[in-house]
Amino acid sequence: MNSQTYIEVKNMSFCYPRSQFRLEDISLQLNRNDITALVGENGSGKTTLGKILTGILKPASGEIQIGKKDIKTLDLGEIGKKVGYLFQNPEKQIFAASVYEDVSFPLEINGVSPEAIKDRTESILKELEIDHLKDKYPFNLSHGEKQRVALAGILVNETEYLILDEPTTALDTDRKELLGRMLQKLHSQGTGILIISHDEIFINKFCGRVLKMKQKGGITDEKV
Ligand SMILES: Nc1ncnc2c1ncn2[C@@H]1O[C@H](COP(=O)(O)OP(=O)(O)OP(=O)(O)O)[C@@H](O)[C@H]1O
Ligand SMILES: [Mg+2]
Repeated sequence: MNSQTYIEVKNMSFCYPRSQFRLEDISLQLNRNDITALVGENGSGKTTLGKILTGILKPASGEIQIGKKDIKTLDLGEIGKKVGYLFQNPEKQIFAASVYEDVSFPLEINGVSPEAIKDRTESILKELEIDHLKDKYPFNLSHGEKQRVALAGILVNETEYLILDEPTTALDTDRKELLGRMLQKLHSQGTGILIISHDEIFINKFCGRVLKMKQKGGITDEKV
């Protein structure tokens, strides 16, 4: 394990009940000093692995450590304070009556002061260019707008690690560039990032390391 390792997976296997799909004997290290891409064919298990690394799904065997702690000792709330996770489908993430409430909610429940909530929420809405939508009902937004609202709700937590499942699927070219620059800034401030993606242009531009899911459930490191 190098000193920048934030998530460590050792000999992890996983299966869904009533499904042939398996992840077999996966070992990998994810570092604070990388922007890593996780690529692979549809159905190869990228989303499944992302959900395992954030405690949503439980492995059948093997070990996972997050920030040097065994994932089995952490509940979902504790993992959420360490690792921000963007769902592949933004509709799974948005829930409130307004964009502002949606983005500020995690800060409200974590007891952040009202001034800090206002500052952080307004600043992230501005950065993602969705401040003009703050009073809107999130479910009526366009797909790309929903994706940025969901992302804002993750970034506002300022976690040490981010796992983003297909964050660029609904974004136009300018908004992809904006997201890439934001991630580079977070990376330079010490946030580790894993991007699950099929977007080769985005990956080539912003990711220094590429992990690939193999059909038989393993993983390879393609480029560092
Ligand atoms: N809840 C579930 N129960 C049973 N099988 C599932 C479940 N969720 C996913 N699978 C199966 O697990 C496999 C991996 O799915 P997963 O969503 O992880 O793939 P993916 O690599 O993220 O694909 P994509 O590129 O399409 O997003 C697929 O064969 C899928 O059908
Ligand atoms: Mg997926």
